[in-house]
Amino acid sequence: HRLSRDSAAHQPLAYLRLRRAIRNVVEHRDIEPGQALPSERDLSRALNLSRVTVRKAIAGLVEEGILTQRHGAGTFVAERIIKPMSRLTSFTEDLRARGLNPRSEFFERGIGEVTPEESMAMNLSPGVLVARLHRVRYAKEEPLAIERSVVPASILPDPLAVRDSLYEVLESLGARPRRALQRLRAVSLGAQQARLLHVPTGSAGLNIERRSFLDDGRVVEFTTSWYRGDIYDFVAELHTD
Ligand code: GLP
Repeated sequence: HRLSRDSAAHQPLAYLRLRRAIRNVVEHRDIEPGQALPSERDLSRALNLSRVTVRKAIAGLVEEGILTQRHGAGTFVAERIIKPMSRLTSFTEDLRARGLNPRSEFFERGIGEVTPEESMAMNLSPGVLVARLHRVRYAKEEPLAIERSVVPASILPDPLAVRDSLYEVLESLGARPRRALQRLRAVSLGAQQARLLHVPTGSAGLNIERRSFLDDGRVVEFTTSWYRGDIYDFVAELHTD
């Protein structure tokens, strides 16, 4: 690594110099996003700096969003995901485009009767059957989002067919969403959500609701998601009319 004794040690504002040195290391990808930094103890020994100095430098970079800390696991280079808002893509497609491997862990994958709220949102008659998928979505071992999707059973009769990508299965059924309405709302993640997403309770999250439509106007999915606010940047291109 580029962290050398000369660059960081024995300087008046040693923590600022160390902070700059670590930022450099991250920018040059000497440590890749998602990889761990050496421990505080190792850094302070190797660079001959006090633990306080090392901790202060790291705290500054955590605040900047360059590093993240996971309780008991250490300090890691953050992996932010920049997501354009105007394209109707799937989680799987978004991650694959970044060279990441998506994975799902399901809590629920079954068929049931539509709830009043769902029937309103999806324009379905009461009593109609829907497929429900409730899952945590990961990039490798890192949880990124919790997602609860509802699809009319007339479109997705066998929810077990969805192992990773809902959109892939819909595509194979000739029901790939063509248009969607999406709403984003800032939330602070509750204890249970935070635990599933490996972040501290009260962390910032994005609550996203997506209703997708087929060409004929039928609602194909009603999905409510909680994305980690420390990972996702949503960007949109804006035009004047
Ligand atoms: C995003 C959207 C969801 C959509 C999902 C499909 O996460 N917010 O509304 O259901 O993508 O992703 P996949 O095809 O990977 O299951």
